[in-house]
Amino acid sequence: MKNWKVKFSSATVTFVLDGKFAAIDKMVDKANAFYITDENVYALHEKKFKGKKTIVIPSGEEHKHQATVDFIIEALLNFGATRQAVLIGVGGGVVTDMVGYVAGVYMRGVVVGFVPTTILAMVDASIGGKNGIDVGVYKNMIGLIRQPAFILYDLSFLQSLPKHQWENGFAEIIKHAAIKDAKMMKELNENDLAFYQKNTKALTALIEKNVQIKVKVVQKDEFEKGDRKLLNFGHTLGHAIENEHALLHGHAISIGMVYAAKISQVLQGFTGTGLLVETLKKYGLPTAMHFNVEEAMSVMQKDKKKASAGMQYVLLNKIGKGVYETIPMKTLQKLINLYS
Ligand SMILES: NC(=O)c1ccc[n+]([C@@H]2O[C@H](COP(=O)([O-])OP(=O)(O)OC[C@H]3O[C@@H](n4cnc5c(N)ncnc54)[C@H](O)[C@@H]3O)[C@@H](O)[C@H]2O)c1
Ligand SMILES: [Zn+2]
Repeated sequence: MKNWKVKFSSATVTFVLDGKFAAIDKMVDKANAFYITDENVYALHEKKFKGKKTIVIPSGEEHKHQATVDFIIEALLNFGATRQAVLIGVGGGVVTDMVGYVAGVYMRGVVVGFVPTTILAMVDASIGGKNGIDVGVYKNMIGLIRQPAFILYDLSFLQSLPKHQWENGFAEIIKHAAIKDAKMMKELNENDLAFYQKNTKALTALIEKNVQIKVKVVQKDEFEKGDRKLLNFGHTLGHAIENEHALLHGHAISIGMVYAAKISQVLQGFTGTGLLVETLKKYGLPTAMHFNVEEAMSVMQKDKKKASAGMQYVLLNKIGKGVYETIPMKTLQKLINLYS
């Protein structure tokens, strides 16, 4: 088992990169271990939870709110969980975001560990210490920045992951390659989704590389003042069309990345759009869509990344080199229109 200890400003996180779920029994005191998972993961992997104190919550973003937090807290109280409790969130980003938050507030804070079970949670959501819940339609409005004690990767969970959820996670992987790692983009372009679904060794190596990219970006900028903004590549326009068109997050940011690449052609002299588009297609991701530009612009205006002089936008200087630039709203609208 490969353990990687990473220091953040407030805590050290142990990444157990080729872990086994059952090994958690040896890592934490069993009497104080409380597993929290969602109904899908539980139904598909029930055997793994045998003999463990488990709290099962409903699945889906629509349950990432206070009522579910209250449900978890009540279940913990019923179990008699004390300050010595260790909460273990097993699931996608919805579960890890929520369990991280509960652990931050239950009895003023207890230890938490994550077992991410979607590609997206493995390479993105579980890493970085951001956690929280939605309030009505407002995403991630309440939460904390607080690191887990450990993140354990057990890839056997992925055997049950539906194909569209693989695509969802690979959109973030391609994003990492675009902003930070040209070599990885080349590798992704030479392979396809089916290859990684079949080839555990290659998938393990790819996930490790992506964990390292996200860790490094967060370590450099834990409180999102600089480099961490690069992780928003494809997300500004992506978020706007995701909500309006009820798209899967990965599909929306895929389209957002293509637009950002095209804008980069004009503003950064970027020449890699063809490679990016070809790669996205190999992972089942859409690269074009008709949408109402004015509507999308007005959603983006409300976005928290808007600066007074314009919109902070992540662009590519070249593949592997993300940069951010403030684009005046008028210029941005003109460029998006140009490519619609
Ligand atoms: N904290 C952060 O830095 C950060 C970063 C990115 C995203 N997020 C959050 O992550 C969430 C999205 O994460 P997600 O895409 O993992 O969503 P999710 O947790 O909703 O999981 C997607 C679906 O897959 C199911 N599932 C999970 N693991 C499975 C498995 N192994 N087999 C079969 N089904 C499985 C879930 O039940 C769910 O239906 C959003 O709420 C987003 O805000 C947080
Ligand atoms: Zn994303």
